Amino acid sequence: MEWTLASTIWSGICLAIALLVIKNKVWSSSKNRPPGPPGWPIIGNFLDLGAAPHQSLASLSRKYGPVLWLRLGATNTMVVSSAEAAMDMFKNHDLAFADRKTNEAMRVHNYYKGSMAFARYGPYWRMLRRISTTELFTNNRINGTEDLRAKGIEKMTKWMWEETQEKGSVGVARFVALGSFNVIGNVTLTKDNIVDPQLEAGTEFFVSLTRAIELSGLPNVSDFYPFLKWLDPQRIRKNAEKAMAHPLNFASGFVKERLLARAKGQINEKKDFLDVMLEFKGNQKDGEPAQMSEQNINILLLELFLAATDTSASTIEWAMAELLRNPHVLKNVEDELDQVVGKNAKVTESDIWKLPYLQAVVKETLRLHPPVPLLVPRRCIEDTEYMGYSIPKDTQVLVNVWAIGRDPASWEDPLSFKPERFLNSNIDYKGQHYQLLPFGAGRRMCVGVMLGQRMLYLSIASLVHTFEWALEDGVTPETMDMREMFGTSLRKAEPLKAVLKLKVAQKE
Ligand code: HEM
Repeated sequence: MEWTLASTIWSGICLAIALLVIKNKVWSSSKNRPPGPPGWPIIGNFLDLGAAPHQSLASLSRKYGPVLWLRLGATNTMVVSSAEAAMDMFKNHDLAFADRKTNEAMRVHNYYKGSMAFARYGPYWRMLRRISTTELFTNNRINGTEDLRAKGIEKMTKWMWEETQEKGSVGVARFVALGSFNVIGNVTLTKDNIVDPQLEAGTEFFVSLTRAIELSGLPNVSDFYPFLKWLDPQRIRKNAEKAMAHPLNFASGFVKERLLARAKGQINEKKDFLDVMLEFKGNQKDGEPAQMSEQNINILLLELFLAATDTSASTIEWAMAELLRNPHVLKNVEDELDQVVGKNAKVTESDIWKLPYLQAVVKETLRLHPPVPLLVPRRCIEDTEYMGYSIPKDTQVLVNVWAIGRDPASWEDPLSFKPERFLNSNIDYKGQHYQLLPFGAGRRMCVGVMLGQRMLYLSIASLVHTFEWALEDGVTPETMDMREMFGTSLRKAEPLKAVLKLKVAQKE
């Protein structure tokens, strides 16, 4: 009797699985979806992603083509992996793919409601984007904060020098992250030294924010099986709630402090980003122009730190790693700086536009090491005909800019670090050249690209012009570990350690 019951249950399960497999096969072939690997029942293609999804997806694209179809749990996913397919997406279907997929970790404290990067495509996002392009990231405002960036970067080089003197070498990632954090802090809040290796409170802000960023990047089962959300099987939502509370409190402290100062009539001479955001503070009422609540200002403020720090820091670390691995390129950057800036002078932002070789190094770094290798996931707003396929509403869309940057169809000798390829070329990363998309393209393209590029140019130029760079004993350019670690940004798995010496001219 018992055996009969067990066998009946097993037969039922096997039949259900078989039907699911057949249904998926028939469903996907009859619906004119892009090609892709067969998936397992229930989990779909989850196991195909591995620990380095950008690499696994690149190799699947080599097999199935530049538009790939996957099922990640219950989520239909399309992956775009060639310049041509990206061009069709951004030129002809940008609006259809302009929505975002919000993950569970970003729902804590209603983060996604105040966020620009994770906002659904709609009036609130449009308002944030408009404020950003017409008020925050304008040339005037960015030019007006030049001295603040210079201060942040000077602090960074000073700390790196102190660390080298104390320990003999320096872990580059930590200091470029602290430096980028301070630069964005300066620009948004006119505050010096938001974080200092010696100051506990600031460091706590930095550490908890870094933890929240990490959690948001972890693959979460609940994102792929919405019916498991209530269970939170990996405790990601719970941990993210805890990790996010602290930096949000910090941001809220800055906002309250500024509101108080303004109430007392203390107005900044030069408006910073927070001043601008506060001009849009109010509660949304029907029929009136969109406004930001105080909580949403806290969130947006935090988001600028989130969006700027990790991306800039990882790019700077990769750039320095590539320069150490390619000493002739490092020498060319040094020579250009000596000629244009002068051996005894500090690099300023007005110099960076006169440094074509340095600019080429930054482009080449972003081509090989885009910090957001799959862009921020998009969502298809409506059923769309794309590249001859029928893509249903709600499909998650990933653009593998890492694969596109290494595609031999777009780049000669794609795996070599050769900044020279950009010297006599107009290829840029502003979203018009689809073979180079580290900042994305179209409506949802990175809003901070102008600020981001200045942070990169100035940081890398200052690091090269201030120090003589060498690898630690026992490590050679040939034996450097260049493996990647996939997370919210694509980091160097083995953090770069370097031995620095102050250049003679800088000592004087
Ligand atoms: C190395 C520097 C940076 C890189 C490589 C980078 C890259 C990106 C990428 C790939 C996206 C998604 C684009 C898409 O989906 O098409 C993005 C979005 C965004 N980035 Fe950046 N970013 C950088 C720096 C910054 C900075 C400095 C800020 C602001 C302070 C910033 C703010 C944002 C925001 C707010 C979004 C969301 C835009 C939206 O959804 O409308 N980023 N960034």
